[in-house]
Amino acid sequence: MSAPLRFDGKVVLVTGAGGGLGREYALAFAERGACVVVNDLGGDIKGGGKSSSAADKVVEEIKAKGGKAVANYDSVEDGEKLVQTALDAFGRIDILINNAGILRDRTFGRTSDLDWDLIHRVHLRGSFLVTRAAWNHMKNQKFGRIIMTSSAAGIYGNFGQGNYSAAKMGLVGLANTLAIEGRKYSIHCNTIAPTAGSRLTQTVMPPDLLESLKAEYVAPLVLWLCHEQCQETGSLFEVGAGWIGKLRWERTPGCIIRRRNQAMTPEAVRQSWDRICDFSSATKPATIQESLSTLVEVLSKVDTEEGVVPNPTSAMASAVSDGNSPLAAVGQKLPEMVFSYSHTQCILYALGVGMSTREPDHLKFLYEGHEDFSCLPTFGVIPAQASMMEGGLGSIPGFNFDLSRLLHGEQYLELYKPLPTSGKLVSQAAIADVLDKGSGAVILLDVHTYSGKDLLCYNQFSLFIVGAGGFGGKRTSDKAKSTMSPPDRAPDAVMTDETTRDQAALYRLSGDWNPLHIDPSFAAMGGFKTPILHGLCSFGFAARHVLKQYANNDVSKFKAIKVRFVKPVLPGQSLQTEMWKEGIRIHIQCKVKETGAVVLSGAYVDLHCAEDSVSPEKPAEAGGLQSDLVFEEIGRRIQTLGAELVKKVNAIFAWEITKGGSAAAQWTIDLKTGTGSLHKGPYSGKADVTMTLSDEDFMDVVLGKLNPQKAFFAGKLKVRGNIMLSQKLETILKDYAKL
Ligand code: NAI
Repeated sequence: MSAPLRFDGKVVLVTGAGGGLGREYALAFAERGACVVVNDLGGDIKGGGKSSSAADKVVEEIKAKGGKAVANYDSVEDGEKLVQTALDAFGRIDILINNAGILRDRTFGRTSDLDWDLIHRVHLRGSFLVTRAAWNHMKNQKFGRIIMTSSAAGIYGNFGQGNYSAAKMGLVGLANTLAIEGRKYSIHCNTIAPTAGSRLTQTVMPPDLLESLKAEYVAPLVLWLCHEQCQETGSLFEVGAGWIGKLRWERTPGCIIRRRNQAMTPEAVRQSWDRICDFSSATKPATIQESLSTLVEVLSKVDTEEGVVPNPTSAMASAVSDGNSPLAAVGQKLPEMVFSYSHTQCILYALGVGMSTREPDHLKFLYEGHEDFSCLPTFGVIPAQASMMEGGLGSIPGFNFDLSRLLHGEQYLELYKPLPTSGKLVSQAAIADVLDKGSGAVILLDVHTYSGKDLLCYNQFSLFIVGAGGFGGKRTSDKAKSTMSPPDRAPDAVMTDETTRDQAALYRLSGDWNPLHIDPSFAAMGGFKTPILHGLCSFGFAARHVLKQYANNDVSKFKAIKVRFVKPVLPGQSLQTEMWKEGIRIHIQCKVKETGAVVLSGAYVDLHCAEDSVSPEKPAEAGGLQSDLVFEEIGRRIQTLGAELVKKVNAIFAWEITKGGSAAAQWTIDLKTGTGSLHKGPYSGKADVTMTLSDEDFMDVVLGKLNPQKAFFAGKLKVRGNIMLSQKLETILKDYAKL
């Protein structure tokens, strides 16, 4: 990261580069290897006249220093011609700095049509035209960097600059949208509001200040934003005097003043004015989705008469009204929740996740009279979810998040016994941890569900609360059940199932009544064309695909599932589950077949034993270590190849394998003595290096998914002794990836 930022091979177009800030950018880019198009109309400050001398002078300056530059004298209103100059001279366009500008300051009442139009034509329309001319070239080459030049006069307003302020804020809006549209082509668009001494500011700034606010204090930000290393996009910066700051929107929690079945009045607005304008618990919405989701929540609150004045129940996220940190919620318990069900709920759930009498092997989940009538394992989320929704996260004392900003991020479910087909279950939920992800907070909610004294299942909900981050908490937690990437190969099995048009309508009857999944107007407010499928419905589809493929629909073989919810699915789309078998772990990825969009990622199902994976003499029963199999195989190889390995490696390696945080096995491979040997349990000799890691991480290293050096730096692998020897691990382990 310390290498100088270079722009060799990049072609930069700077508009209005004949003087002031633009000239500075042009010189700086050229000095760092870029080919520069120096555009300037060469007119006066008010937009009158034209001349080629301004651009020519800067081109000469660049060339005199050995740089590459050409001049262009067109107005930015001829956008295509500017870009054509770049293509003719250098064959491409990578970076565009929209900088050209004029001033026609007037108090508002005296602003003429010409004052308004000229300002808009140069600043807003000019930037539009040049950017549009460059856009498709950037899109085709999948790279582009665009800078818009706004102004503090627009952001804050400035006396006598109505025309200019309006045009300058127009550019901020344009940049916000270009950032979104350009993202998938690596076209980044940012906006700067600079302050520097130039001919534009000489009328409004005292000469001393003008002199000290140098243009060279602005250029470094522009260069960094335009470098390929910089991933910033859609942002607005103030810059000047050697200082750079980033701006964003802040919004008060506001309050709902409408009541169900009542007219909304201006008097009610007056009465709540202080609260509407109270920034003390402000949030920082960053996307239009976040903005709209608030409205969706408002509609549902008004509908249920929740949170309506005078006693709104929810303060907005990020701030904590009672002075507690969100971390104070860690360890808090939700009220215990009782969930009673009969075979009807089990069958309804099975239909909800797409089971059908079309498939003969589905009957055992759909017909209570079937000799093997069973409850689907993923039904285990239903009682747990009820405890969260009805018991209410909102009931946690000092827990002051706005639940309207809550997204279901990830889900883990582990079963200790097959679920009964009817019963009365008790769920106990507690906040396991609260993480600070910057843009939001993640709540890890652990729910244990019991039947009498028997623990039946454990759920971990990862709930993301948009905008609630930044409270100084940690980013990760050892309590979090992590997702896992699938192996880097084609899937071992793929199963596809159609969802029906009524899938969400059916699934919600299992207890998730969010109108987002049924009411078109709610869905529209959330930015969706139609109501979307429940994430936990796709989760149910994926789980039963694995159950069928690798466990012959035997629910007693199902141990656990973890998924991350990535994208919504629309009812009627087909779900495609890709599966990779790695012993008893089945990695899964779920896609919408029609679009190819990944909807569940980092997912896996753990089975107690997989149908076609375990050799009869060595079942990897629950609690058994996957690493045992690998070591035993290594032992067999040493018997045949030991002498050769001793020659190559010449070291003694010891492993301490942990499971669930405690020591589970010890292995030592002696590749120093004789023809090599493998030892299980305590070892009498001295190992050159001892490595401690979990059974799962060991498997990842063996399967080449986790690089030992990276594991070490991530704290997953502890090494005592000669750490350099860990590099030889690959020699020993790489052949075993096929296990
Ligand atoms: P400047 O007047 O030195 O530079 C602007 C350049 O744009 C001039 O060389 C001018 O000939 C050229 N130009 C004007 N109309 C053109 C057109 N139609 N086509 C091509 N070139 C044209 O002014 P300065 O200060 O360097 O301003 C650069 C940009 O920064 C402007 O967009 C300005 O509004 C903005 N800005 C500057 C601030 C400052 O403190 N200097 C404050 C806020 C914004």
